[in-house]
Amino acid sequence: MPASSDTEFGRRLTEIADRVTVALDQLIPSAQGPEADLMRAMRHAALANGKRMRPFYVIETGALFDVPERSLLRTAAALECVHTYSLVHDDLPCMDDDDYRRGQPTVHKAFDEATAVLAGDALLTLAFKILASSETHTDPVLRLKLIERLADASGAVGMVGGQMIDMLHQDTPRDINTITRMQRLKTGALISYSVESAGILGGANEGERLALQGFAHDLGLAYQISDDLLDVEGDPALVGKPLRSDESAGKTNFVTLLGVEPARERVKMLAAQARTHLAFFGDRANILLQSVDFVLDRAH
Ligand code: IPE
Ligand code: IPE
Ligand code: MG
Ligand code: MG
Ligand code: MG
Repeated sequence: MPASSDTEFGRRLTEIADRVTVALDQLIPSAQGPEADLMRAMRHAALANGKRMRPFYVIETGALFDVPERSLLRTAAALECVHTYSLVHDDLPCMDDDDYRRGQPTVHKAFDEATAVLAGDALLTLAFKILASSETHTDPVLRLKLIERLADASGAVGMVGGQMIDMLHQDTPRDINTITRMQRLKTGALISYSVESAGILGGANEGERLALQGFAHDLGLAYQISDDLLDVEGDPALVGKPLRSDESAGKTNFVTLLGVEPARERVKMLAAQARTHLAFFGDRANILLQSVDFVLDRAH
């Protein structure tokens, strides 16, 4: 994490990223049998150099509630499996058709398209197996809640629904409201789950739940708009994926709709709002506050 390793936030993010990668290495089956390329492809995608922002939010939000480490780490790993699967499918030729991801060839380039589809499928289902295990939490009712909410955040009323809007033919009119809803679903839903799952594990009360929901809502939108800004003006060596992907595909997003400066202003406004929600937790939310600065000033 070159941009941030000298800050407290950067150190925590690096530490969490390392722990999640070790957990994923243990949770993803090892390559064996005639289907070995499936596991190799899952590992190629999941063990690569992702920022692990969603795991960071699970673990640091969980720290507000003193949730046991193992529950947080397994929930974070499950969420990262869903996120990674969404990237593997997002990069396919039938979607964004991108050749690089996390600084290496995409799964369909390193393997082939069928393997990429199947590796995505298997990462998605692995996520639910991780959450269903009693190793994640001893209370089965709580585990079911984690599973139910992840299904919503990932599926047709969450990330996949947002990806569908993203893929609609360019002739379909896209106004600011449609774009906001698309971003909220395709990126916001999984970011919301990162704090929501920690709140479920920690038994958050209604006030805490609403503060976290508000925080994640603004943060998730800011995160995707900053991704759209990086697509236009990022450094490819740091971003680790092809730039101008949206523009070359004729995609509408906040930047293409509003322009660079108004999009940047919107990220600032959303970051300020996100910070306001965290005031509810006082000094305890210090590291979460620092993460907002990272989103505001993303280089990768
Ligand atoms: C990329 O997410 C796709 C978006 C939803 C913006 P990240 O920027 O978090 O990607 P990784 O996990 O670090 O590779
Ligand atoms: C993808 O958004 C969000 C997902 C649900 C995968 P993008 O298509 O903008 O993500 P990148 O830029 O390829 O990472
Ligand atoms: Mg996309
Ligand atoms: Mg893409
Ligand atoms: Mg993008």
